[in-house]
Amino acid sequence: MDTALRGSLKATRPPGPLGGTLTIPGDKSISHRALMFGALAVGETEIRGLLEGEDVLATAAAMRALGAEVAREEGGIWHVSGRGVGCLIEPADVLNIGNSGTAARLISGILASHPIFSVLTGDASLRARPMRRVIEPLSACGARFTARAGSLLPMAIEGTADALPLSYRLPVASAQVKSAVLLAGLNARGTTEVDEPVATRNHTENMLRHFGAEVSVEAAGAGRLIRLTGQPELRAADVRVPGDPSSAAFPLVAALLVPGSHLRLEGVGINPLRTGFLVTLEEMGAAISIENRRTESGEPVGDLVILHGPLRAVDVPAERAPTMIDEYPILAVAASFACGTTRMRGLGELRVKESDRLAASARLLGANGVVVEIQGDDLLVHGTGRPPGGGARVATEMDHRIAMSALVLGLASAEPVAVDEARFIDTSFPGFAALMEAAGARFEPA
Ligand code: S3P
Repeated sequence: MDTALRGSLKATRPPGPLGGTLTIPGDKSISHRALMFGALAVGETEIRGLLEGEDVLATAAAMRALGAEVAREEGGIWHVSGRGVGCLIEPADVLNIGNSGTAARLISGILASHPIFSVLTGDASLRARPMRRVIEPLSACGARFTARAGSLLPMAIEGTADALPLSYRLPVASAQVKSAVLLAGLNARGTTEVDEPVATRNHTENMLRHFGAEVSVEAAGAGRLIRLTGQPELRAADVRVPGDPSSAAFPLVAALLVPGSHLRLEGVGINPLRTGFLVTLEEMGAAISIENRRTESGEPVGDLVILHGPLRAVDVPAERAPTMIDEYPILAVAASFACGTTRMRGLGELRVKESDRLAASARLLGANGVVVEIQGDDLLVHGTGRPPGGGARVATEMDHRIAMSALVLGLASAEPVAVDEARFIDTSFPGFAALMEAAGARFEPA
């Protein structure tokens, strides 16, 4: 299969098991942050393993437009020459960040405390996603936001030269909002505080430290209190980006579902704030082991070994959602093969992802013969312990994870499953089809 996916695509049961060793592309969250911190640091940052997906390339282009030098060397090593905290320059044009909610929220934080004017926009999916969650806290630091319909992109930002340090309690469990407030705090005089009632992914805190900022993190019940000392001199620091556990989830579930499979995924990030998915699959009886545990650039990494086997239904608690927020569509696919009813609780945030992922996951499964219900913010999947019928053509709604979930379903359902548009897979997982085919999967244009 061509690595640049375009148009419709169909997944069919392969004749044999999936197997071999795959290297998963770089972590999307860490890749965005490496480029942003590189741009804000003094000196040259070298990044290895950067995810070269469309979302991250949009962040690279935005950092260039803000005055950083960003270059890719032969062999995929990236170099960023930064300008220093507070020293980004006014972009000459609108910053178009495509499909990426992370880029939109984090860059808003950076721009809020720079005395420059900028306009952010994105594709139709991103233009429908809520920005009030960052406009509200960031306005309190002194920046001015003018957004379409009050809270949607396109959005104009007039940043401030004299940002006030914020003290903010997150009203939603969102690493993006936490990161936006911390990034604004980088160029504020004094200490910025974020109180998160539930712990969310901590890549921003880890990387701030890696670049020399002073960050303290205190446990507070199920959450954390994070403090950042403003106006540090960030120093360039090399970053090795681990494989993205959210991308690994797709070949991982494919191996669990295709009979006889035995797959190894090398160099995957296993930060405990990202691995709720592994905890859940273990509760479902999945045979997954983690080998060769190590730490790279402050992040825990390991190799995952997955064996096919039967799954049982589970009840996934709402508190676990932040540690597996992007994995629910593919977990729902796994649950449709399990014996019994899986209930996934507290999925309200899924409604504001690249698509309404709660509805899109239910539609994906329903169209392929799975009995599924939405009760409030919970998703219920009634598995029979046998492969679902399949046979549907799924509308991907500009959502990469819905597209990959549907294709993984098609590798193990009775009939093939097609998606109407595979193009969006490149936002987070360039080379998805080729990598899966290397393990024995089968895709063809539909
Ligand atoms: C991300 C945080 C999550 C996640 C997204 C990446 C990040 O979003 O869904 O894919 O890099 O901080 P929320 O913070 O909106 O939950």
